[in-house]
Amino acid sequence: MISIIAAVGKNNELGKGNDLVFHLKEDMKYFRETTAGHTVAMGRKTWESLPGKLKNRTNIVFSRHEVEGADESVSDIEAFAKKYQDTEEEIFIIGGGSIYAAFLPYAKNLYLTEVDASADADVFFPSFDKKNYDKTIIKKGSENGIDYTFAKYTIK
Ligand SMILES: NC(=O)c1ccc[n+]([C@@H]2O[C@H](COP(=O)([O-])OP(=O)(O)OC[C@H]3O[C@@H](n4cnc5c(N)ncnc54)[C@H](OP(=O)(O)O)[C@@H]3O)[C@@H](O)[C@H]2O)c1
Repeated sequence: MISIIAAVGKNNELGKGNDLVFHLKEDMKYFRETTAGHTVAMGRKTWESLPGKLKNRTNIVFSRHEVEGADESVSDIEAFAKKYQDTEEEIFIIGGGSIYAAFLPYAKNLYLTEVDASADADVFFPSFDKKNYDKTIIKKGSENGIDYTFAKYTIK
């Protein structure tokens, strides 16, 4: 099964200058806890934005080239998506914008941290039709005056 996990602003903002636009400690903790022990898969640019490999997780990187340091580099996104679409095992797609867009048609769950703020961004989460998903609110919170909601969308 494929699950997407992302933090998005009011206008679907994801990142700017190959960095995140929101830095919420609680969201980082939620991300760590949700993905711990699983395989995480990401685009080469997101990989390069990280300080290093994400601990306690298998790190897959999508690139047209071999990526040094990754547990596996994958060049055929479609084949990967089809292979894991119906597995019991949950694979987390962790960004960035181009990879979310590629996996949206294959993802069963979207774990979205909906941040109630806007930001200057150059990468956005793709638009999707919320009518096609059931929405569960996992938790709401606030950090440094910024409200956020951990929401889970599951395809109907
Ligand atoms: N808010 C969040 O939750 C969140 C999460 C993650 C990332 N981000 C942000 O998102 C931004 C990065 O996103 P991005 O869209 O610029 O880059 P990205 O999706 O992380 O990576 C793009 C790279 O992935 C590879 N790729 C993409 N499509 C491919 C395909 N069809 N086949 C093979 N490889 C493919 C290519 O690597 P090669 O060029 O090596 O071939 C491409 O350059 C950053 O600002 C980051 O901070 C935000």
